[in-house]
Amino acid sequence: MADSQALLGARFGIDLPGTEVPDAVAPLIDRRVARRYTDQDVPDSLLDALLAAAQSAPAKSDLQQYSVVVMRDRPRIKQIADWIGTMDWIATAPVFLVWCGDMRRGQRLCALHDMPHANNNMDTFLNTAVDCTLAMGAFMAGAEAIGLGTCPISYVRSHIERVSPLLGLPSGVYPVAGLSVGWPQFRRPVSMRLPPSVVVHRERYDDSALETEVAAYDQRRNARDPVAAAGLKNNDVYPPRDGVGWSENVARQLSVPERFGFSTYLKTKGFDLA
Ligand SMILES: Cc1cc2nc3c(=O)[nH]c(=O)nc-3n(C[C@H](O)[C@H](O)[C@H](O)COP(=O)(O)O)c2cc1C
Repeated sequence: MADSQALLGARFGIDLPGTEVPDAVAPLIDRRVARRYTDQDVPDSLLDALLAAAQSAPAKSDLQQYSVVVMRDRPRIKQIADWIGTMDWIATAPVFLVWCGDMRRGQRLCALHDMPHANNNMDTFLNTAVDCTLAMGAFMAGAEAIGLGTCPISYVRSHIERVSPLLGLPSGVYPVAGLSVGWPQFRRPVSMRLPPSVVVHRERYDDSALETEVAAYDQRRNARDPVAAAGLKNNDVYPPRDGVGWSENVARQLSVPERFGFSTYLKTKGFDLA
């Protein structure tokens, strides 16, 4: 049996007496992203097995409304890293995957069978994103189980007008996230999460204790891993200062619009979002 309290203590910074972590679940609690990879390649046979695991994830109504673009060409991966500008380590990844929501395939299947596609709406957009994310999550879990490191990259959406043509994404297909994949140069520390009492609601939603719970979480997090100056969000809007906690940093990030042109982009890609 895994050392439950050690695993949970690393993840949450608190004791969770009574929670017992089965061995098979332990790696999921011990996981972390990996940024920066060795020169060792990822063989196609292994990559294809992980992609098969990704395709084994559940999909809404079995519609399978997502696609993934596999990038192995180093200069093309570097091109994405260069566009992003602040994540040079992406260029060390031997594999870069771009996970895409895909409404196009369903539209083509309707055309193939001489039927209209009558579901170009917000629900389909959400379903494409959910299918895609579940597949990416299954890929990540499989990759990490055999020692590979991964990191999702939402920043591909910050440069969507260049990433989309680079990958030849047609109408009805949009990137949800990139995923860098490689053998990690090092293992980062586990990132402390909000306590389950904040995230897990029993029978009814209840966030009445949010302020006190988050204040304690900020303190725990800062005691172990204070927000670094480089990690402070939107320094140009809010003066940098010492002692910023996780919750204030979240507010610093969420108070400034991010990728607010995304729905406009989706509309140019044929999504009605109605
Ligand atoms: C949808 C999504 C997008 C992300 N985008 C980025 C990104 O663009 N760059 C990056 O360095 N990390 C990115 N991450 C990784 C998160 O920053 C990371 O998961 C978080 O800091 C917690 O660390 P942990 O996964 O090691 O627990 C992303 C994660 C997710 C789920």
